[in-house]
Amino acid sequence: LTILRAKTALRRHSLSRPAARAVADGIISSEVSVFDYGCGHGSDVRLLASQGIKASGWDPALAPDSPKHPAEVVILSYVVNVIENAQERAEALKRAWELARSVLVVAARGLWDVRGIAGQQHEDGLVTRAGTFQKFFEQTELRNWIESCLGVQPVAAGPGLFYVFRDSGRAQGYLASRFRQRLAVPRQRQADVLFDRYRPAFDGLMSFFAERGRLPRAEELPAAAELSHELGSIRRAFAVVRRVTGGEGWEDIVRKRVHDLLVYIALAKFGRRPRFSQLPQDLQYDIRDFFGSYTAACETADRLLFGAGKKEAVEEACQRSALGKLTQNALYVHASAVPMLDPLLRVYEGSARVLSGEIPGANIVKLHRRRAQVSYLTYPRFDSMGHPTLTGGVTVNLARLEIDQRDYGSWPNPPVLHRKELFVAPGYPRRDMFARLTAAEERAGLLQGGLLIGTALDWASALKDRGFVVRGHRLQRRSPTAQPPA
Ligand SMILES: C[S@@+](CC[C@H](N)C(=O)[O-])C[C@H]1O[C@@H](n2cnc3c(N)ncnc32)[C@H](O)[C@@H]1O
Repeated sequence: LTILRAKTALRRHSLSRPAARAVADGIISSEVSVFDYGCGHGSDVRLLASQGIKASGWDPALAPDSPKHPAEVVILSYVVNVIENAQERAEALKRAWELARSVLVVAARGLWDVRGIAGQQHEDGLVTRAGTFQKFFEQTELRNWIESCLGVQPVAAGPGLFYVFRDSGRAQGYLASRFRQRLAVPRQRQADVLFDRYRPAFDGLMSFFAERGRLPRAEELPAAAELSHELGSIRRAFAVVRRVTGGEGWEDIVRKRVHDLLVYIALAKFGRRPRFSQLPQDLQYDIRDFFGSYTAACETADRLLFGAGKKEAVEEACQRSALGKLTQNALYVHASAVPMLDPLLRVYEGSARVLSGEIPGANIVKLHRRRAQVSYLTYPRFDSMGHPTLTGGVTVNLARLEIDQRDYGSWPNPPVLHRKELFVAPGYPRRDMFARLTAAEERAGLLQGGLLIGTALDWASALKDRGFVVRGHRLQRRSPTAQPPA
């Protein structure tokens, strides 16, 4: 049996999935140096360098003479899955970690990739027809293996993709930011002399409050010191803000930030929940201000986590949810609306995301009601098409801790979406347009119960039978010569 490792390396014209994810997450930027350990033909090194990022790499087969040196971020991308010897595999992981000053990005192929790959069983993987070895990891298996080799708990960044942070505070900061909603600053309604005089400082104070839902400590915002000095205290300064802006919206921000933090603390239980002193300073202040103590915060978060594991509680929260489309089996929401769901449903969804990491392209989240399961569905052109079709899905089974990935791209008759306004939150850019299309389809009798419309072909024939076409978000009468819509 001959195993050809170098043959696994591909030449790429765009960044690999792990490198692209790390750029999107701000892990890789022009501020940091990157070292690609097992870089193959060096496509990522070249592409990162072309974006002005200091990048270099080494590969035992394809770039053996390049020096190995430390960098802020080290990438170990699809390397461990091509090494058949368990000891050498662990060695590669450890060597890469030694070079990482700040973050190690580890990517490996997942069990979901195994479909359609033929090969001969060898050690704990397969030797493919092309003569390359491939080990396919379960998500939890990969996480546990990284932790057992390095003694550090990695954070899931996507299926088969983990970040290992040198500084546990940074890991917590990354996790917390993933569960933080983006909120707008409440609008100012009336002017005030003080407010105008110290406008830049007040703007800083309002942005800080919108970001964290609490007042800043002096060291967190230099402008706060100026306001405290001029107005007596930061509390007084904020009282001015409340008067000027009419006070609306600030309580709402506090409530949402408390929820964000609870969701994060609840989900941190899946790793080993950090000690208070291991949290970044800003999170420590959040916890003191919102809950009084970390113990109190953890108790509240644990109640939420317990609820998210109870079928009846999930069921009740799904039924109560003002957001999302409720069907017999599930509550469906657009990914942008997930942070606005009830905290219990956010923890339910988040438990799945802790396991799977982010699913690129997925825009509809299906919270199953009958079993502990969350699916991430991809409906391309959700915004521009009246009735987008499903091309892929990743399902996370929370009872078995497994993930499964399916590609519907080549299905002749994939599911289609209707009533898109139900999936998104109020304020979503084209929500009114979605609702107008639904109203027109209702008037035309196209959405009546009993009519089969759930898949692309059924929907096309329902439209045709009733003499309609949908163009973009317009329902039009089909003229005898009308072409079917693209
Ligand atoms: C599938 S390729 C991945 C290449 C590149 N990282 C990427 O993502 O495009 C696997 C690479 O791992 C390299 N490799 C094999 N054994 C290794 C080891 N012990 N340490 C580092 N790299 C290794 C191979 O030479 C090959 O180029």
